[in-house]
This record gives sequence, structure tokens and C-alpha cells, in this order.
Amino acid sequence: MNALTSLLGTEHPLIQAPMAGVQGAALAVAVSNAGALGSLPCAMLTPEAMERELTTIQAGTQHPFNVNFFCHTPPEPDEAREAAWRFWLATYYEEAGIDIATVPSGPGRVPFNRAAADVLERFRPKVVSFHFGLPDIDLLERVKSWGSVVLSSATTVEEARWLEAFGVDAIIAQGVEAGGHRGMFLVDDLTTQIGTFALLPQIVAAVGLPVIAAGGIADAAGVAAAMALGASGVQVGTAYLCCPEATTSAVHRAALHSEAAHHTALTHVFTGRPARGIVNRVMRELGAMNPAAPAFPLATAAMAPLRAHWEAKGSGDFSPLWSGQNPSGCRELPAAEITRSLIEGFSARA
Ligand SMILES: Cc1cc2nc3c(=O)[nH]c(=O)nc-3n(C[C@H](O)[C@H](O)[C@H](O)COP(=O)(O)O)c2cc1C
Repeated sequence: MNALTSLLGTEHPLIQAPMAGVQGAALAVAVSNAGALGSLPCAMLTPEAMERELTTIQAGTQHPFNVNFFCHTPPEPDEAREAAWRFWLATYYEEAGIDIATVPSGPGRVPFNRAAADVLERFRPKVVSFHFGLPDIDLLERVKSWGSVVLSSATTVEEARWLEAFGVDAIIAQGVEAGGHRGMFLVDDLTTQIGTFALLPQIVAAVGLPVIAAGGIADAAGVAAAMALGASGVQVGTAYLCCPEATTSAVHRAALHSEAAHHTALTHVFTGRPARGIVNRVMRELGAMNPAAPAFPLATAAMAPLRAHWEAKGSGDFSPLWSGQNPSGCRELPAAEITRSLIEGFSARA
């Protein structure tokens, strides 16, 4: 037991990272039942889908679980920028035989809002985590009013101090190795983003809250190393991507097991915000950080039909192949087994 397990109500201070688009209730249930904290990512779920997934989790486990949301401010649609981006993509549409005019624009991810809070209130999960800062104060107060513990990711010391000032219960220190979206919300300068073992001790020194290390942790040795640097717990994502309980696509799984997985980069061509994924054709050809990409999450729509076209042919050339820099923990093993092997890192420390 430590400060974090008391807060989360779990046996072990290990959180399965919420991973939108590659998992639902099944992974969360398996991890929570194994003594760690399973998570349900809601960024891509309608309120109805959220309700379904939460009902499944509640039926599947008596243990605490985490429900996760993005809390970005939706941008104003910008027709000129969208048109410029489609111009960049035009040759790819042509190659795939897709009529650019039939591709709808619009958001691919919705921030935490009143409708989501209404569903959440019926379930009152033990833990709620946010990415990209925190929601508006009234929504945050609502979540706290029913007793959920609140977590959010910090990618800099400044963000950690900001989250502490706005009342989170614990901070996820997300190093630049991490797979998926950078949780950065006070800055957009990528040179501010540093590695887990540089960020973690600095955040531990700067705040008075439990700090959870995330990014590049793939096995028990990584867990032990994070704990030695002052973490109260760890959050692991990439190592769970190939579990049978995850819904990770076949092309994504194949990429994670291939040599290509050794080369990841931060890119915003898939959504408009920097996220770490395995370098593929579209990232190489457009440039991983192409200034023409629409603001988050508006870049999602234009890439979606290309992704679908190429995935149907067995290719991940236009897919967001999210992965951290350390995919070595990705094994086709039940999530309970991955959880058990990570947990060994806590006793290695003693
Ligand atoms: C496929 C994938 C999807 C992710 N989606 C989310 C998400 O929906 N919400 C979130 O808070 N973090 C998300 N993350 C980031 C994780 O919370 C975490 O920071 C990261 O997985 C830790 O690094 P690791 O992947 O090296 O273990 C995602 C990560 C991955 C790999």
C-alpha cells in the first residue's frame, strides 16, 4: 500500500493507460480483476456507447476502474485550412480512387461535456482521468462531487504545478517516449517535451501529490526504475496493445511486432495534435509535423477514408499506428499476465 493505492483503491499502483480507438470494456475489466486499475477511454465514444461499455465493466468487475476523457477546446472549423489540407492529400485520394468531394469534414473526438457527465454520474467510477488539461470548473466540480478521484497528465513541470493548483488528486508525468497523444496543454512547443526519467523526478520535486510515471515503461525493470525515481505508481499503455482483450487492428498489431516499431515519431497528420506512432508512408511523405494539418481534432476526417481504404488491403500506410518508443513489452498475452509481470517491479524495489 502507498499513497496512490489508497487513493485508487487498488491492490497495486499500476494503471492500464486508457487508449482510445484500441480498447473498450474488456481490457479494463481484465486489468482491474488482476489487481491494477483498468481504464475505459471515452474520447471516441457517444454517450450511448459509453453507457454500454460502463455497464459491461460494472458487470465484469467489483474492483475500481478509471474512465478517461479528452478535454480540449474544440476549434472553429476553418474552410481554407481544410481545403489546403485536402490539396496535400489529393494525390492519395486519386491513388485510392476516392472522390474527395464525398469525404465529410468534422471532428473525430469530443471533449468531456455535460452529456458525458450525465452518463458518468450514473456510474460514479472510483477514478476519472483527463488528457489535455482539465474540463471547465463546473464539470470538474461535478465529477468531484460524487467522489471520483481525478487524475490528469502533465508533460512539463509547469503543467504539473497547474494541475495541482486546479485540484487534481494525482499527476501522470507523461514522458516524451509515451505512445498516443501528448497530453500537453499549456504549450505547443515540442522542444519542451522531455523523457520520462528526466520529467518524473522534477515533477516529484515540484508538487506535493502522488506522481504516476508514464512513457516507455514496458516491464518489471521499468516499473522498478520509475519507483526508484520517486513515482508513486506507473501508467502503462503500449505493453497492453497486443493483448487479446484489446481491439487493436491486425495491421497495427503486425506493425508493433515488426522492425518498423523501432522507429516512432510525434505526428499530427492523423488528428491535428502531436501523438507518437510508428513511422509509416503518410508520415514520411507529408512530414510527421506538417504545418498544413487542420487543428485537433479536425485533421481526423480527411485521413479516415484513406486509412479505411488501405487497411482493407492489409496496409497500415495511412493508419495512426500509435506506439511508445519501447514496444518490447507488447506480447499476445492475456492482460492479466501482462499485469502480473509488470507488478513484479513493485517488489523488485523493496
Ligand atoms: C494506442 C494509444 C492510445 C492512447 N489513447 C489515450 C487516451 O485515449 N487517453 C489518454 O489519456 N491517454 C492515451 N494514451 C497515452 C497513455 O495514457 C500513456 O501516456 C502512454 O501509453 C504511456 O506510454 P507507453 O505507451 O510507452 O506505455 C494512448 C496511448 C496509446 C499507446
